[in-house]
Amino acid sequence: MMFAMSRRPCIAANWKMNKSISEADDFLDEFLPTQSAEGPEVVICPTYLALARVAERCAGTPVRSAAQNMYFEDSGAFTGEVSAPMLLELGVDGVILGHSERRQYFGETDPALARKVRRALSAGLMPILCVGESLEQRECGDTESVLSGQVLADLAEVHTDDLDRVVIAYEPIWAIGTGVTATTDQAQEAIHFIRNLLRSRDPEMAERVRILYGGSVKPDNAAELMSQPDIDGALVGGAALDPAGFGAIVDASRGSGS
Ligand code: 13P
Repeated sequence: MMFAMSRRPCIAANWKMNKSISEADDFLDEFLPTQSAEGPEVVICPTYLALARVAERCAGTPVRSAAQNMYFEDSGAFTGEVSAPMLLELGVDGVILGHSERRQYFGETDPALARKVRRALSAGLMPILCVGESLEQRECGDTESVLSGQVLADLAEVHTDDLDRVVIAYEPIWAIGTGVTATTDQAQEAIHFIRNLLRSRDPEMAERVRILYGGSVKPDNAAELMSQPDIDGALVGGAALDPAGFGAIVDASRGSGS
């Protein structure tokens, strides 16, 4: 059974460990005046240190802000962590969870992510859950088993009624920061596979969940990627550091609502 459903594209800037507060200000000075309420949902994910400034400056504009990580407990002896209530206090709208750099370098695990996704949702934050395979896993033919393992484990504690509040970002590790973008077909195929996994939980919800592509998205490849039926936007790293370049990616998504 098919459900006709229109998904609003989402274009998110993951600044990773880049941009001081003053550099974030410079970006916003140029970027915010170019943004209107129509078109995709645009989200900026700065470092924790620049987050208060970005959230404050985006308030009252169509642009939203998100953190790059959070912990699932609300407070306590967890040195170096921040919690959902702390993000809410800043007026932050969402949080990236499970980025491959956190999984690779900082020991992020699926059981912890399941709790983080649940806590983000219960706080009213939009989780942007990242999944993706390494080059070795792809070459061994393990892409689908890696994706299903991550998606099913990380969403295990999400009530089906809340599934459409999760944004998923498919980011093949071999395409991140390498200049090697997944081909349009590879990206569509993997994202279609993820949507089918969601269908096994709830066919109607699966049509509503936005699934983004991330990995070397640039102004000149964004439109083609987002023209695919299952690709609902992009999570952009390097190309989102430049306001004009990121603006061009946002523009490329206009009219790509599937
Ligand atoms: P790049 O766009 O720099 O490849 O990074 C992608 C990414 O990891 C976004 O989260």
